[in-house]
Amino acid sequence: MKKIFIETYGCQMNVYDTEIVKSVLGKDGFGFTESEMDADVVLLNTCSVRENANNKVYSRIHKILNGRKGDDVKIGILGCMATNFRKQLLENPKLPIDFIAGPDSYKRLPQLINDISAPVETNGAVKNFDVTLSEFETYSDVYPTQSDGVNAWLAVMRGCDNFCTFCVVPYTRGRERSRSPENVVDEVKRLADQGYRQVTLLGQNVNSYNYEGNDFAHLLEAVSEVNGIERIRFTSPHPKDFPRPLLQVIAENPKVCKQIHLPLQAGNDRVLEMMNRTYTQKEFLDLVDEIRSLYPKMILSTDIIVGFPTETADEFEETVKVMEAVEFDSAFIFKYSERPQTIAQRKFPDDVPEAEKTRRIVKLNEIQKRHSYQKNLGHIGEVHEVLLEKESTRKSADDFQGRNDGNKIVIFPRGDYHKGNFLNVEITEATPHVLRGKPVNVLNK
Ligand code: 5AD
Ligand code: SF4
Repeated sequence: MKKIFIETYGCQMNVYDTEIVKSVLGKDGFGFTESEMDADVVLLNTCSVRENANNKVYSRIHKILNGRKGDDVKIGILGCMATNFRKQLLENPKLPIDFIAGPDSYKRLPQLINDISAPVETNGAVKNFDVTLSEFETYSDVYPTQSDGVNAWLAVMRGCDNFCTFCVVPYTRGRERSRSPENVVDEVKRLADQGYRQVTLLGQNVNSYNYEGNDFAHLLEAVSEVNGIERIRFTSPHPKDFPRPLLQVIAENPKVCKQIHLPLQAGNDRVLEMMNRTYTQKEFLDLVDEIRSLYPKMILSTDIIVGFPTETADEFEETVKVMEAVEFDSAFIFKYSERPQTIAQRKFPDDVPEAEKTRRIVKLNEIQKRHSYQKNLGHIGEVHEVLLEKESTRKSADDFQGRNDGNKIVIFPRGDYHKGNFLNVEITEATPHVLRGKPVNVLNK
């Protein structure tokens, strides 16, 4: 039996895809190992959303090959780099990888691995690849292995049609396609039967989900009817796809968590237009107001890019202005990183100096830290419903940790509770990153 070692980089969709890959290979009789040192095949499920993600993978390949000098180990590259860096990966003599498979080709993996392991005379030493992007593949017939035990991930749509000019995803993962609501609900039922209490619906552009006229609001309602599942989250949405009926379902359906990720990317209208985000600063702020009018305590997070080509210091200040106006609970802030194939790479030179990008990211991170801390301090004295996940990794094994409805980590003293329990926890302390509290009672859910 061939042993596979697989390592994952990048977003949650990749983590999920790794479980799809394990499921496909496991069914075909492959085994798995936790160490790259005794694997027959090493798979790296890669990300190419920013340059440093790419670089990490290159240095990892070298490290593995150095560690395994002289051994017969096969290396396969999966994920977004497979589609986006196919040529570089296959033609670089210093990178002796054996095969690559893009995000829509994982059902072909057993064959790719068997081909590459065949004797040289039967073409075994030829680099093999399948990076075809599919209009249809949703892996709706593959049940991913899930390891967490409390939360299960579930991809409901794949691909992206938005073509934000900075983003490589439409090229690496192809066009949008959604699974049928019935197929999603069937899988959620199966997960509930296995004891999962929470599902997180995944998609590159999850709220543009649409299957034969059934939209994302419909899907959330359908999933919320599954007994045993108490919480539904979703990621990652686009601000353009929040029609009122969807906001109402999020605000009113008790199982849908009161938390929305709302990627802003930039605050200035000219930059937003160059990014092809399809909303203005005002439209974004109006959406935040609408969300808060429906549910004032909605937890909001965002993604921001600093130093997009031609963004001036004044225009950057408008991002600051939006952050100060909204006061997000948390934010992921990135320096613009030019990606091959993207519209921005073809049309707009990456002209904001690195030092200026650094100045901007430092400034936004400071603002966000202040906001996160203020928001968290505001929770002190409240009682939050917490889903217990595990022993705390933060301080000591004497603590448990879970997440509240808004997805914030809550740490509390250990007691006679179990993974998957819902508890009321009174919040007593806060840092910018976590909440601490004391359990009040266990809920009968
Ligand atoms: N440079 C910097 N950040 C990027 N992101 C996507 N593409 C790039 C890029 N080229 C960020 C966006 C997106 C998040 C997942 O990654 O903020 O929302
Ligand atoms: Fe990239 Fe924009 Fe699609 Fe998100 S919505 S995956 S940022 S192109």
